[in-house]
Amino acid sequence: MDTITFEGRVAIVTGGGGGIGRAHALELARRGCAVVVNDLGGDVAGRGGSASMAERVVDEITAAGGKAIASHDSVADPAAAAGIADTAADRFGRIDILINNAGNLRNKALESLTDDDWQALLATHLTGSFNMARAVWPHMKARKYGRLVFTASSSGLFGTALQTGYAAAKAGIIGLMNVAAIEGEAHGIHANAVMPNADSRMARQTMADWGPEKQEQGAALMLDAIGNSMDPEFNTPLALFLASESCQSTHAIYSQCLGRVARVFVGVAQGWQAQRQAPPTLEDIAAHWEEICDTSRGFTTPTSSSEELALVLSQDAARQ
Ligand code: NAI
Repeated sequence: MDTITFEGRVAIVTGGGGGIGRAHALELARRGCAVVVNDLGGDVAGRGGSASMAERVVDEITAAGGKAIASHDSVADPAAAAGIADTAADRFGRIDILINNAGNLRNKALESLTDDDWQALLATHLTGSFNMARAVWPHMKARKYGRLVFTASSSGLFGTALQTGYAAAKAGIIGLMNVAAIEGEAHGIHANAVMPNADSRMARQTMADWGPEKQEQGAALMLDAIGNSMDPEFNTPLALFLASESCQSTHAIYSQCLGRVARVFVGVAQGWQAQRQAPPTLEDIAAHWEEICDTSRGFTTPTSSSEELALVLSQDAARQ
């Protein structure tokens, strides 16, 4: 297997000033990539801001002989996002890779989450990812090459208590990635999503917000057999492989959890087919509930809305 290199490539890593994003930025630079390290530099809730987080990572990269510049703009601001892309293109001549990783956290029960919390979570994770994807798009399209890596979460795909806004934003990122991948296909732009897992300040905050009992369970889990697999660096090989020219994957979701790397997909069970002349009744649904829910007869994984239609029609023949 040849060594994967990013020589001559240019990447933007949002939220690259700490945690998982910092690990991505350092490894990209170590493998020859010029990196724009973007980080608001605020607290875990996304409040405040400073240049220092991004600059510290840039200093680490340049001290090791790599190429990087810092940005401490918020990805939630569309004009600032466009500015980050323009700066990358002006300074380094192109944009090949966008790793949308910036994130904030506000853990509260659904009924206590304020409008401000909800807006702040959606603005950073979902709008921020969109702002950045839209900003880099023309640069990638012009060169017929691009790699977009979106950062989702098991919270968005599977659910975590206290994370209504966070999970909704993370699930929204999957929708964004799906369409970016479909529209990017004609332009050589690949889009994938990762679901990382790390002992970062964000994870520590979640543990603290869970309260003492769950915290104890979590701490016990931490001690048992996980080795160093909660280090942020465990997430970087998957994200960077997806960001590399070697990787042909697009329109897919991958999870990294305690060193286990796996594809995650949305599957549709075979289900029950109603006749098509009139809508089924509620009683029809009740009568066929087991069939509707049965996943043991296999499933399909449609890659677009129209593919789901085609798959349903193709199942007619199999049913006869
Ligand atoms: P982190 O808090 O260390 O990193 C997030 C970074 O984003 C911070 O450095 C923060 O300053 C920056 N940021 C926040 N708002 C920003 C904005 N508006 N513009 C630019 N930068 C901004 O946490 P961690 O864990 O490294 O998170 C990285 C990504 O991974 C996040 O998207 C997070 O939601 C996701 N994630 C993390 C998991 C974990 O187990 N740590 C699990 C699932 C997803």
